Amino acid sequence: MVIIGGSSSQDLAAKVAEKLGERLCYVESKKFPDGERYLKINGKIDDEVIIIQSTGYPQDENILELLFLIKTVKDIGAKKVTVVMPYMGYARQEKRFNPGESVSAKIVVELIESAGADEFITFNIHEECVLNFFNIPAKTLSAMPAIADFINDEEDLLIVAPDKGAYHFAQEIAQILNCECTYLSKVRLGPDKVETRIVDVRCEDSSDETVNVDAVKGKKAVIIDDIIATGGTIVNAIKILKQYGAKSVDVCCVHPLLVNGATTRIYEAGAQSIISTNSISSDTSRVSLANIIADYLKS
Ligand code: R5P
Repeated sequence: MVIIGGSSSQDLAAKVAEKLGERLCYVESKKFPDGERYLKINGKIDDEVIIIQSTGYPQDENILELLFLIKTVKDIGAKKVTVVMPYMGYARQEKRFNPGESVSAKIVVELIESAGADEFITFNIHEECVLNFFNIPAKTLSAMPAIADFINDEEDLLIVAPDKGAYHFAQEIAQILNCECTYLSKVRLGPDKVETRIVDVRCEDSSDETVNVDAVKGKKAVIIDDIIATGGTIVNAIKILKQYGAKSVDVCCVHPLLVNGATTRIYEAGAQSIISTNSISSDTSRVSLANIIADYLKS
């Protein structure tokens, strides 16, 4: 087996290779003066090749480089290519929300398959139905055990999902740490505008809309979400948690897109810290996915 790190995931690929005791293969990937990509595999290819490449910004370049990698290693002798895409760009456009829109996630999947990928692995994909677009084995792994390991198992800990969609992440972490969890209610008004309209904080076992102030008061709240993009969702959540008397608020996510000054806005709103995985390289990437990837590839 040989491991290849694409331009966006070199550090993670090196750590996975080290944990597996497998060889890293150097790839020369650069741009010609006119902007076109040049790619050359500079090492020996084994029958089995693992390509690790996230497709955060610049999404289109990272995707094209990945396609070049898959096709080239297949052309020069690889029998099985496993694509590990820690963050999958375009996975939020899994359907045609408005007439005429491209179903971008499906197009990306078809490109990966037609380039020759034999297996696909990602982390906490935003819409699991995207995996159904694949004809090859495709799996989403969870980063929550690694994030839970990082969070101190302190007293008064409350894991908070900023919306109901993220509640299963909060539940997963709370179960590992044996602490409480809850969620807030969020309404999305547009791609960069969210409003947490209903400021109720519900207990896990509560089915009504009653505000439960005691769920937050005096707690060390840790917000967990899959993606932080503009930070709007998290800023709203921090404000509500502070309003309800949280002692402190820390923020965790799997995929730190962190665009448009999100980091500053989150700290300005009162967060004590922001941590994320290294699915995308960022200042916040303090939780490594290398062990989970290596364990999965070994199994
Ligand atoms: C959406 O439901 C996701 O789980 C995230 O909450 C969302 O992508 C975050 O976006 P933003 O940081 O722009 O609010």
